[in-house]
Amino acid sequence: MAIERTYVMLKPGVMQRRIAGEILSRIEAKGLKIVAAKLMNIGRALAETHYAEHRERPFFGELTSYITSGPVFAMVIEGDDAIATVRRLCGATKVQDALPGTIRGDFAMHTGMNIIHASDAAASAEREIALYFKPEDIISWKDGNDGWI
Ligand code: RTP
Ligand code: MG
Repeated sequence: MAIERTYVMLKPGVMQRRIAGEILSRIEAKGLKIVAAKLMNIGRALAETHYAEHRERPFFGELTSYITSGPVFAMVIEGDDAIATVRRLCGATKVQDALPGTIRGDFAMHTGMNIIHASDAAASAEREIALYFKPEDIISWKDGNDGWI
């Protein structure tokens, strides 16, 4: 497996509900590495660019309104097979399919407010990381060889 970077974003309900720490701790506990992080407001233009693939979908307005409704916690996460690994931690898109033990399965009641975004492929990860972070804001840091992970 290869070391990958993926774009992960805790959606506004996470900050409202004060559960950012709980979700971050799942990502950290898995052994993934946070290499960039910031709290930010997303403007409408960025929201529409981010979710451009869904522009024609009936939920596009609701989706972009939701992610512009309050601050998001934006991150770049690094690790072995990080893109698929984070998607597994998140669970299925539709909340009725998201199993208990996954972030969406444990914290979301509505698909339109499913708590977390994570890139779904290498190309989208690269595109999304560049939308939110400058290269110099991504911190490469090394693990010690102390076998903690
Ligand atoms: P995300 O992009 O947010 O990580 O979610 P995803 O890949 O699992 O799902 P995607 O198909 O990209 O959908 C993006 C977001 O749109 C909302 N959605 N609503 N009402 C619906 O049927 C529906 N389907 C998708 C969800 O909030 C989803 O996260
Ligand atoms: Mg998606």
